[in-house]
Amino acid sequence: MNKKGKIFAHRGVSGRYPENTMAAFQAALEAGADGIELDVQMAKDGKLVIIHDETVDRTTGGTGYIKDMTFEEIEQLDAGSWFAAANAGETIPDLEKFLQWAVIEGNELLINIELKNDMIEYPGMEEKVIDLILKYGLELRVIISSFNAESLRRVRDLHETLQTGYLIEGVPENTLEIAKKIGANSIHCEEGFALSEFGRAAKEAGFPLRVYTVNDETRSGTLNKAGVEVIMTDFPERFLK
Ligand code: G3P
Ligand code: CA
Repeated sequence: MNKKGKIFAHRGVSGRYPENTMAAFQAALEAGADGIELDVQMAKDGKLVIIHDETVDRTTGGTGYIKDMTFEEIEQLDAGSWFAAANAGETIPDLEKFLQWAVIEGNELLINIELKNDMIEYPGMEEKVIDLILKYGLELRVIISSFNAESLRRVRDLHETLQTGYLIEGVPENTLEIAKKIGANSIHCEEGFALSEFGRAAKEAGFPLRVYTVNDETRSGTLNKAGVEVIMTDFPERFLK
């Protein structure tokens, strides 16, 4: 029998709730997911903000870059109506609010914080994220991931043991070499990489593979057989039933 991969709610239960909101995170806890994946950008005032895009345009009624707005401005926006009228009034949380929720009794979810610093440089972001993780004693429950290899190397320089996951898109051949060089602990990849010869080599070299974003639960057999450690999905219930 193949070992079953853990199920992470991608941007929370983003198939049923507006992504990266507390409603989507609460639904992940209630669904019995093993973990949550979320995205972090940095506001003008240095606050760490949970949102996927560099701008607020797609997921709120507002417009503008996160880097040009204060968190006070960002927090005013409606981050639910774009998804469904019933979700009107959901707000964009900051990372600290999420971590406060994550340490409430009964919440043992693993937390994959993706640093969204591959399109925009956010100076000092790594240190701020690590400080918050340490403040809430969440070192053993957090995995920091990024498409930005240099940023993950900075995380490793700042903290020797925090788990880091090197994020890749497609099937790049040099993944294993980069992951080793930056001291990453795992590789976060698409299904194609996990099932490729490079994926197999990475796994054999001791890098767990965490796969995004799989919404078809019939893929779980193949992925479990390939030894994938985590499946990230917008619909965790489909995999947990
Ligand atoms: O962390 C895995 C996955 O979330 C990366 O892609 O665009 O959904 O942030 P994206
Ligand atoms: Ca992400």
